[in-house]
Amino acid sequence: MSLPSVLLLGSGRIAYHLGHAFKRAGVPLVGIVGRNEETVKELSVALDTRSFSLSKGLPESSAVVICVSDQAIAEVAKLLPARNSAIIHTSGASSLDRLLPHENRAALWPIMTLSPGVPMDFTYVPIVTDSSSTLGEQVVTALAEAISTNVSRMPIEQRELVHAAAAISTNFPLFLLQKAEELLEQNGIDRTLIMPSFAAMAAKAQAIGARDALTGPARRGDMGTVNDHLAKLRTDPDLHRVYALVSRMILKAYDHPTDGIEDIQRDPR
Ligand SMILES: NC(=O)c1ccc[n+]([C@@H]2O[C@H](COP(=O)([O-])OP(=O)(O)OC[C@H]3O[C@@H](n4cnc5c(N)ncnc54)[C@H](OP(=O)(O)O)[C@@H]3O)[C@@H](O)[C@H]2O)c1
Repeated sequence: MSLPSVLLLGSGRIAYHLGHAFKRAGVPLVGIVGRNEETVKELSVALDTRSFSLSKGLPESSAVVICVSDQAIAEVAKLLPARNSAIIHTSGASSLDRLLPHENRAALWPIMTLSPGVPMDFTYVPIVTDSSSTLGEQVVTALAEAISTNVSRMPIEQRELVHAAAAISTNFPLFLLQKAEELLEQNGIDRTLIMPSFAAMAAKAQAIGARDALTGPARRGDMGTVNDHLAKLRTDPDLHRVYALVSRMILKAYDHPTDGIEDIQRDPR
């Protein structure tokens, strides 16, 4: 069976990565449509396809893959003409209802953090799908399986949980890395000193599991060091609270007493 043809809607990060992956997999790309003329043009040139504007006539395709911010999905879906195509969004946290009134609604969500850079190879990236009709199911599965060997179907209730887990495990460590880098820079210390251990962390967690991979003073129950760290964070009340709270959670999880830790409710200033 030939692969479904795709019209990409949006020209941001996921449009860029999915567009390149679809092209590499031989998915016919009929065009890119979006509100940002410049980035739509740029992506259409890179993908060797045509660019369209939302207000003008759109080409026929088996699927429209909506790659816009979560809060804009419903608005742009309503602008699409009613056709017998699958209308697919790429959001882990959005229900299929955002694609109403279209009949063949579907979701294709790669569980991966996507930033500008080299186009992502999705071969081993888990992709979860969902759909409201047989046609939607056939089209979204064919597209997901064209680019990934790890495709499964998941309803919104589970997608929301996986989305929360992905935010906790991916976005939070990266934000805390930024705060740790700032701490070093503010004190005239080379911020790259912490990069090798940060880079090793994910590989180690994958190899032996997060519970065994965790090290540090809270895991050892070394309360003196935990409180020394807290004393150094007094100038940043939010970071101080986060440090105290996460340390308390780690102490508990590894069966250490928590009563020696500085009170996290107290304003450290
Ligand atoms: N990035 C990731 O790691 C990732 C991973 C999996 C899934 N997703 C999902 O992918 C979707 C897009 O995320 P992204 O990271 O690609 O975001 P992004 O890079 O910020 O791109 C968002 C795109 O949406 C367009 N847009 C926003 N509001 C619009 C509106 N009202 N009308 C028309 N176009 C509008 C933007 O146009 P302008 O350029 O004009 O602002 C831009 O093309 C989201 O549903 C997200 O949950 C993202």
